[in-house]
Amino acid sequence: MNFDTIITRRDTGSIKWDRRPELDPFWVADMDFTSPGCILEAVQERVSHGVLGYAHAHDGVTEAVLEYLKSRHGANVTENSLIHLGGLVPALSLAARGFVKPGENLMICTPVYYPFLHVGNDAKCETISVPHVEIDGTWTFDWEEMEKQVSAKTKLFILCNPQNPLGRNFTKEEIIRVAEFCHRHDLLLVSDEIHCDLVFNEDTQPFYSALHLPEKLRQKLIVLQAPSKTYNIAGMGYAFAVIENPDTRKTFCDARGHTLAEINCLSFFAAEAAYKHGEPWRQELLAYLKKNRDTVIDFVRSELPAGCTIPNIEATYLALVDTREAKIRHPAQVIEKHSKVWVNDGTAFGAPGQFRFNYGCPHSRVLEGLEKIKVALHSSK
Ligand SMILES: Cc1ncc(COP(=O)(O)O)c(C=O)c1O
Repeated sequence: MNFDTIITRRDTGSIKWDRRPELDPFWVADMDFTSPGCILEAVQERVSHGVLGYAHAHDGVTEAVLEYLKSRHGANVTENSLIHLGGLVPALSLAARGFVKPGENLMICTPVYYPFLHVGNDAKCETISVPHVEIDGTWTFDWEEMEKQVSAKTKLFILCNPQNPLGRNFTKEEIIRVAEFCHRHDLLLVSDEIHCDLVFNEDTQPFYSALHLPEKLRQKLIVLQAPSKTYNIAGMGYAFAVIENPDTRKTFCDARGHTLAEINCLSFFAAEAAYKHGEPWRQELLAYLKKNRDTVIDFVRSELPAGCTIPNIEATYLALVDTREAKIRHPAQVIEKHSKVWVNDGTAFGAPGQFRFNYGCPHSRVLEGLEKIKVALHSSK
């Protein structure tokens, strides 16, 4: 796969490229690469059948997901525990609606992928946001503050691991500590692991899925994953939940009511192909993204105005840049106004004075975007 190829995405109905065509897009989390051939072929074969009626998860996709969980993540999951979904965000909302009543609350740590801040509204419950803290250059949890904020009204903790937008691949110790916190306070732990196959330091620090937690800590647990970020098939709409505890599973499934659409018939075949045959492509992608990641970090540290900072990114193709010490309060606005580049405003993630840059694109585009951002930020000084 040649990740350097520039693919024109304008006028393809792409959110990233067509929502505001006057801007150069480095925002929403999808990549400007074609998906692996094995996925495209599987989808084309299914389309060529010609009948696209309501879909049911065929044996192939279920086997592929269970085998993937076993071989890649060392997790023995039974078919009963697996719930196919048309997307991951609806599952966050379902968890809030199923497990938190009005008057109760859920806890998240910020900055975080913006729907985390809003799914509590679907449940008409309060959301407690505890900011992550940076210790010796590494973003982690503010354990003391979490203990201060949790109460008998708190029912759910939503974890984002790997972390979007901080790019952390949390350690086993951190995840166990989160799970122990949840256990101590009788909270349901929902672990959003959508970026789990986009980890750069896999060799030295393998991804620690909440599926690996000791049995005692898995009793009130929902793990959510998807092939969508890794294989760039977010528009297909497919994700899955693993819920081992039958009572938790029933509450979650009952909360669906009539709120979810049937799952896209093509997405099952895309997911099956991704998990069965996508691994060589994923390895190439990771090597390419790692180079982009290094470029972004070096560039921010050496070319952007003094005071702009970026964390060490261990996972994802998203970079959060903090411009507060450079006294740039609204960087996304400055960048849009001056250079017509679209980056995400950190405010939406609970990170004002910061912006998120998507480097899931050809290296030449990364450089182009960074140069434009540099001009914009220097012009505001
Ligand atoms: C942490 C996280 N969860 C969920 C999603 C979206 O999931 P879906 O498109 O399956 O709803 C994203 C997309 O960027 C994400 O970063």
